[in-house]
Amino acid sequence: MSLDIFAARPDPALLDLPWSVPLAQWPEDLLAALPRGISRHVVRFARLSGGIVAVKEIKESLAREEYHLLRNLRRLDLPCVEPIAVVAGRTDEEGAPLDACLVTRHLQFSLPYRALFSQQLREDTADRLVDALAVLLARLHLVGFFWGDVSLSNTLFRRSAGAFAAYLVDAETGELHDSLTDGQREHDLDLARVNIAGEMMDLAAGGYLPEGLDPIEASQAVIGRYRHLWRELTEDETFEVGERWRVDERIRRLNALGFDVDELEISTDLDGSSMRIQPKVVDAGHHARRLLRLTGLDVEDNQARRLLNDLDSYTAATDRQGEDEELVANDWLTLVYRPTVRAVPSRLRRKLEPPEIFHEILEHRWYMAERAGHDIPLEEAITAYLRDVLPGRPDEQAVLTTDEPVPPTVEDGYP
Ligand SMILES: Nc1ncnc2c1ncn2[C@@H]1O[C@H](COP(=O)(O)OP(=O)(O)O)[C@@H](O)[C@H]1O
Ligand SMILES: [Mg+2]
Repeated sequence: MSLDIFAARPDPALLDLPWSVPLAQWPEDLLAALPRGISRHVVRFARLSGGIVAVKEIKESLAREEYHLLRNLRRLDLPCVEPIAVVAGRTDEEGAPLDACLVTRHLQFSLPYRALFSQQLREDTADRLVDALAVLLARLHLVGFFWGDVSLSNTLFRRSAGAFAAYLVDAETGELHDSLTDGQREHDLDLARVNIAGEMMDLAAGGYLPEGLDPIEASQAVIGRYRHLWRELTEDETFEVGERWRVDERIRRLNALGFDVDELEISTDLDGSSMRIQPKVVDAGHHARRLLRLTGLDVEDNQARRLLNDLDSYTAATDRQGEDEELVANDWLTLVYRPTVRAVPSRLRRKLEPPEIFHEILEHRWYMAERAGHDIPLEEAITAYLRDVLPGRPDEQAVLTTDEPVPPTVEDGYP
């Protein structure tokens, strides 16, 4: 067999995977039992060079297209899974051809929506999922990406300081244009509405939707939230010249939604009495980039904002506002952040990723302080959190499932 491996930085360990075996029959000991969404193709998680990859068996031309699309989306800084390689030219032991495989890096601590709904779902979790998906769709549309198969199954969710960040996982039907027409956007929204309603009804039939959550309303909510966001992101606004503060206000609102303004086009009308602004909105990630620059920590944007807030209050509490920001950040990292996450015993480390645990500890400390009516030292909050909260949380790094072949409508082990 002559394999054809297409990759930007090919990992030689790829050659050790059993490419002459249909993916559905790969031996159990190579596989990682992690939760997966519903899919058309066979998808398995395999161990590779100390990490985990997702392997999807799919026609070669589709695999190549999806590989390139994912690469382009990542270049544009959009949240999606990272493509590693396309493996083509596969044949089985008898020499019969097998479909190609698209290999992507497993997105750590990501959860398919079904896994979220099978945990004790807090009432507002569904709202947060809806929010995260609407933000993802708006971000994709801003750069001209038509998804073509918007659904909960094609999205992965990661916790981000109490909210969720949504990632695109399946780009098979996607198209990248310079920009999208309203018609293309509406088409994606229609697909979203139908798919999400179907997925929610499926959950309802299995008894996994919380009381009072209506599948149709939930799918409508994604659309409503998207439209609101889209207007906020793209609409031009006209003000009286004396209302310059409203420009500022618009920028603040965009920041609060997690977006930054790259350029602001301001034009005044002929008699100079009113002005029109058209913001060029760019990807959020502002806080995440600042935190990365200051501390080397690479985390979700909401988490970064949370960590930066704590860094700011550390700076204030130690009276070091005038000092070099990077030096203070380094002290905060070694004296506050690291000791906190290291206090988590190793058996509890698979529950949540470190920045999320740090965020929860800060929340817990605030909650304790509110109840006690005075400040609580960090050490005390850590002890209480590790004793009372974290042990009760499910493991999110690797939720064990069996990897039996299952009918396509049932996701492995979930719910
Ligand atoms: N890189 C990845 N990280 C985590 N999960 C993944 C990854 N790739 C695929 N999955 C899981 O596998 C499921 C199916 O993948 P998908 O690309 O949607 O296949 P299909 O094209 O057959 O629908 C996803 O819903 C997701 O749960
Ligand atoms: Mg899919």
